[in-house]
Amino acid sequence: MQQQQAKKKNQRVEEVFDLFIKHMKSFLQEAKLNHEEYTNFVDWADRLGKKGELPLYADVFLETHVLQAMYSKMPGTQPSLLGPYFVEGSPLVESEPGQPLVLPKRPDEPGEVLYFKGNVSNIDGQPLANTHVEMWHNDNSAKYSNFDSDAPDFNLRGHFYTDENGDFEVKTIVPIPYSIPTDGPTGEFLEYMDQHSMRPAHLHIMFQAEGHETLITQVFFEGDEWLETDVAEGVRDELLTKLEDKGDHKEASLDFVMRPL
Ligand SMILES: [Fe+2]
Repeated sequence: MQQQQAKKKNQRVEEVFDLFIKHMKSFLQEAKLNHEEYTNFVDWADRLGKKGELPLYADVFLETHVLQAMYSKMPGTQPSLLGPYFVEGSPLVESEPGQPLVLPKRPDEPGEVLYFKGNVSNIDGQPLANTHVEMWHNDNSAKYSNFDSDAPDFNLRGHFYTDENGDFEVKTIVPIPYSIPTDGPTGEFLEYMDQHSMRPAHLHIMFQAEGHETLITQVFFEGDEWLETDVAEGVRDELLTKLEDKGDHKEASLDFVMRPL
């Protein structure tokens, strides 16, 4: 039975592949690809897969174009890439009323303290209370927990809910710019392109509210030196906020608008 299901024709795959080949033909004519270049590409792609870098490569170089094709003309906050560093199962963060939520961190977590405020509404301007918000970002060594950081799993990762006005406030640290991994075929590609490997500092944030499309996006900070040349091209003007210096901490805020399903 399972074998029969596996052999079932998938019309969508056929439709998309036919379109891909159609456009590939004109692309090949324009690029004048020769056979050696084709075999070099297959070899590189094979190494990319064997090194486990396919998700990295796709998320950095393709995901933003998929999102722009889907959303750039739609109302609501523009999505940005999910990226390869999201993990399921982050802890629930709660706080007393009026107090900020505190993202899980080490007692001696290095970095500048950040209070980030946000509001979530729908495209008609109605606040979306009780929206599930997931937040994750890197630490002061420019690394993500659960991946290459020395920090415990789920450090600087958490989920929480907006209040009755669609508001939330989180205490965490200011994320910092980071380099994507450069020691494999993805780094090789960057060298061919003479492209640096940096991403501007960003918070990853994902919103889920009943009757609304899940919004996966990122928050960037004005003045970051990598905004213009983000290797993953994830920056959108409306995702920029200002880091305000408050002496012993920084503050920033941004509002988010979710699209109905
Ligand atoms: Fe990231």
